[in-house]
Amino acid sequence: MPLKAAILGAGAIGAGWAARFLLAGWDVAVHDPAPGAEARLTATLEAARRSLPMLSEVALPPEGSLVMAPLAKAVEGADWVQESAPERLDLKHEIWAEALKNAPQNAVCASSTSGFTPTALNGGKGRIIVAHPFNPVYLLPLVELVGQNTAKAAATLHRIGMYPLEIASEIDGHIADRLLESVWREALWLVKDGVATTEQIDEAIRMGFGPRWAQMGLFETYRLAGGDGGFAQFLAQFGPALKWPWSHLTDVPDLDDALVQKIATQSDAQSGHLTTAELTTQRDNNLVALLRALKQQGSAAGKVLNTHDKSLTPPPPPPGPEPLVTLRRTIPVDWTDYNGHMNESRYGQLWSDAGDTILVAIGMGPDSPGSQGASWFTVDNHIKYLAEVHAGAACEVRTTILMAEGKKLRMHHEMYVGETLSASCTQLLLHIDMETRRSAPPAPEVAEKLSKYAKAHSRQQ
Ligand SMILES: NC(=O)c1ccc[n+]([C@@H]2O[C@H](COP(=O)([O-])OP(=O)(O)OC[C@H]3O[C@@H](n4cnc5c(N)ncnc54)[C@H](O)[C@@H]3O)[C@@H](O)[C@H]2O)c1
Repeated sequence: MPLKAAILGAGAIGAGWAARFLLAGWDVAVHDPAPGAEARLTATLEAARRSLPMLSEVALPPEGSLVMAPLAKAVEGADWVQESAPERLDLKHEIWAEALKNAPQNAVCASSTSGFTPTALNGGKGRIIVAHPFNPVYLLPLVELVGQNTAKAAATLHRIGMYPLEIASEIDGHIADRLLESVWREALWLVKDGVATTEQIDEAIRMGFGPRWAQMGLFETYRLAGGDGGFAQFLAQFGPALKWPWSHLTDVPDLDDALVQKIATQSDAQSGHLTTAELTTQRDNNLVALLRALKQQGSAAGKVLNTHDKSLTPPPPPPGPEPLVTLRRTIPVDWTDYNGHMNESRYGQLWSDAGDTILVAIGMGPDSPGSQGASWFTVDNHIKYLAEVHAGAACEVRTTILMAEGKKLRMHHEMYVGETLSASCTQLLLHIDMETRRSAPPAPEVAEKLSKYAKAHSRQQ
């Protein structure tokens, strides 16, 4: 039976959680008393359905079911209750009082609160933990976990492709928002004092330290800045500067009408030509592209995504008469070009990945021990592009083994979007001795496995 998540409050954060769980195959029950809550939830789900699958090289599990429900009904039978109501302690206490009465004893009970501690939420005793995510919850992996017994929650978050950061100490604002707030406070001063506009501050971040932070964080970046002398050298060089009066530290500018107006006007001039929906798509496309680049390097958030992909990859199909489903995936936004469709160069990746599924099946995939000392090289591809394919399309590759003889392996791959045949490729691979890097017959056990696949298909032709 699918697991169930109860989402209490479906604003920016709650809707993002709903999308995370739903797209991980969980059943989701949402409670939000506001008029229009369901419509806002639908808009977030649409954005998530478009972008989250693009992060993965394999298909996500089938979606669970989604219902709107009164609070008591929503939490009934839930494995995870996530409260994401407005940041007011009295309101959160009220919601939890009812939720705890009706939720199963073993359900994870978590709040998205940006600032309150578990002690404040529990009123001294209780089992509510903090699971503080980042917006958009459906794309960013980080969840700060604070409170007692967070191990079960952490394991679940790993399974749905997120990155739990367990924090032993309870402090208001946890870790990440404290860091963000010091930058935010400084930025407010820079605007108020007329030193920088909102646009200049954003450029200072995205042209410089923003990308640096995305892949190395703060301390690793500064360690590198210290050169071979490492952090000690960095601190010797830049430590004294911390005493210079650069920063206003905790002194916050008054958010009076004048400052609010100044920021709003500058921000309108900077981004007012874009609708919220356009900005959301821009942000999500950029995040998908950045995170996919980190996946390619197996680094930072990319490492989390690769591990999750592995857990979602089905075993290769056994030999059988029908074409074999060798790949199911979504076409990511960075695979498309100026014509607005999948670029021809990306089809090579698709055939290569589909072919790898067969190689995994015969014990010669990229990670299998059989690949030691030998591999298969593609020497010929005949591709037909039959229909346009756009970003976000869910595709399936069906593969027929046309011939497996000695060192030659010929396969025919067909790419389907729905039931539309969108492209095909007849591919010839040669078995290679990786020491001589010349073609050579495969080991007898590999040849035998391969011939089972080929025979099953030859009976069909
Ligand atoms: N916005 C962020 O970037 C961010 C990031 C991480 C965590 N958080 C935290 O997440 C929580 C929600 O923030 P948000 O930005 O999604 O707020 P939001 O205002 O967008 O959404 C809150 C939702 O809760 C609903 N709500 C109000 N009363 C309710 C009730 N009694 N029961 C159920 N739902 C109710 C509202 O109708 C609204 O849809 C806050 O605790 C916030 O600190 C926010």
